[in-house]
Amino acid sequence: MQSGQRVALVTGAASGIGRAAALRLAAAGDAVLLADRDEQGLDAVADEIRTAGGVAEAAPADVASSSDCAKAVAAAADLGPLRAVVHVAGVTAAPDSVETISDHDLERVLAVNVGAIFRLGRHAIPLLRAAGGGVIVTTSSVHAFATMTDNAAYAASKGAIVALTRQLALDLAPDRIRAVCVAPGSVDTPMTRHELRRRWLSAEDAGFTTEPGAIGRVAAADEIAAVIAWAASEEASVVNGTTIVADAGLLARLV
Ligand SMILES: NC(=O)c1ccc[n+]([C@@H]2O[C@H](COP(=O)([O-])OP(=O)(O)OC[C@H]3O[C@@H](n4cnc5c(N)ncnc54)[C@H](O)[C@@H]3O)[C@@H](O)[C@H]2O)c1
Repeated sequence: MQSGQRVALVTGAASGIGRAAALRLAAAGDAVLLADRDEQGLDAVADEIRTAGGVAEAAPADVASSSDCAKAVAAAADLGPLRAVVHVAGVTAAPDSVETISDHDLERVLAVNVGAIFRLGRHAIPLLRAAGGGVIVTTSSVHAFATMTDNAAYAASKGAIVALTRQLALDLAPDRIRAVCVAPGSVDTPMTRHELRRRWLSAEDAGFTTEPGAIGRVAAADEIAAVIAWAASEEASVVNGTTIVADAGLLARLV
């Protein structure tokens, strides 16, 4: 850890967008605390960052657990003054509707996708304040704005993240803490591949295309990480309380 180096806590850092965001932030000079429930994946990302000359520590954590969140924040504080919290960890449920979803699945999706922002924030916000300010980046989805059938819990959770980010921005502005939400469209990650399998869809049937220039094309995780890293940087100092939609134009298309 070099003096003056910013500490960033990234959840969901073992895979997909969270992994890519952690690599970006570390490459930009942050000391990164990696939090995820996938311990093996975390160690691999921590090794990758260290091999590249960066600073990273892994904190295995279920972000639906208050005690794990407290431990992850404490581990970040051990690295130095916490200045950025990047919430990426997220889960989907099996195809569900308000009528059919089990209490277990509903509570899990809301606890991981939304509750974690409260649970980590409770411990992290006092540290951001003590550090003289910082930034909270959340990860929503285009499903906050337009969705598909049988996606009730996930869509509701992603809408809540947009509202909660706005709330954080208002409440924390006097402490010089910004809050910014990033809403990706389709991204090529293990989550997307798992969802397609779960719905018995081929990428083609689901309308996914990687064709450059195609509206709504599938993004690489690193393209979303670039937006997250920018939102977390001083370059975005005037961006607060809002949602950056990073969807290759998906929401722009009516037909
Ligand atoms: N992939 C997409 O197309 C897409 C689109 C829009 C939004 N998103 C959002 O981006 C975020 C990252 O998704 P991804 O596609 O990279 O998925 P991913 O499955 O590749 O990665 C998610 C990570 O979160 C971790 N995680 C899940 N539950 C956790 C918990 N309780 N505690 C700690 N870690 C936990 C997983 O272990 C995994 O490493 C999610 O919030 C997702 O909703 C993804």
